Amino acid sequence: QDKINIAIDGPAGAGKSTIARMVAGRLSYVYVDTGAMYRAATWYFQKLGVSPDEVDKILQIVPDLDIDLLPGEHGQQVWVNGAEVTDEIRSLAVNAMVSRYAQIEGLRSRLVSLQRQMALRKGVVMDGRDIGTTVLPDAEVKIYMIASVEERAHRRYKEMKEHNQITFEQLVRDIAERDRLDQEREISPLRQATDAILMDTTEMTLDEVTERIVSLCRTYG
Ligand code: C5P
Repeated sequence: QDKINIAIDGPAGAGKSTIARMVAGRLSYVYVDTGAMYRAATWYFQKLGVSPDEVDKILQIVPDLDIDLLPGEHGQQVWVNGAEVTDEIRSLAVNAMVSRYAQIEGLRSRLVSLQRQMALRKGVVMDGRDIGTTVLPDAEVKIYMIASVEERAHRRYKEMKEHNQITFEQLVRDIAERDRLDQEREISPLRQATDAILMDTTEMTLDEVTERIVSLCRTYG
């Protein structure tokens, strides 16, 4: 069977990255975590001390932004301009600001073109916010994954390493705020593509969700 591209979009913590990784494993496809690319850019701007309001400065830096996702021993490694930032991009500092930088059009267009290059040869499972609508509008299978905000906060809380720095209630507020920024931004907001399949994972196990997507891919074409 010919390889296809799979787009998985949805709000923070809906299970996209875990599921995308599992689906990619099952099909021997490549997993592309586009959120990690926005996070890597955020980490880099923060390191340079450039705030998301300094759009002119950001646009000067964007052409030199070199972001790589490489297969590592413990999952995907994230690199930005020669620095390995796999763990750093999951920090609270990056969490708090990533959706602000992600609103900048010049940054988005650069990352979108990198993402399209990664998907040229097909066989890619890509997760993010605008994959089905903007990055890969021709993806053969599109999933829009949701879950209740409490369930999403609960999942994030379990995978976080900085428990002493944030309460569960604060995490719920952070996630709701990130959803709001992602849905309300002007350029490629978080939205279900008209041809995407809606999956509510609130009460589904990881295996159930993975199985459903894999079987959708198998019946494709
Ligand atoms: O997926 P993750 O939660 O790691 O994404 C972090 C942030 O990156 C999102 O909240 C969103 O602001 C931005 N993002 C985006 N478009 C994508 C992927 C992520 O704007 N395709």
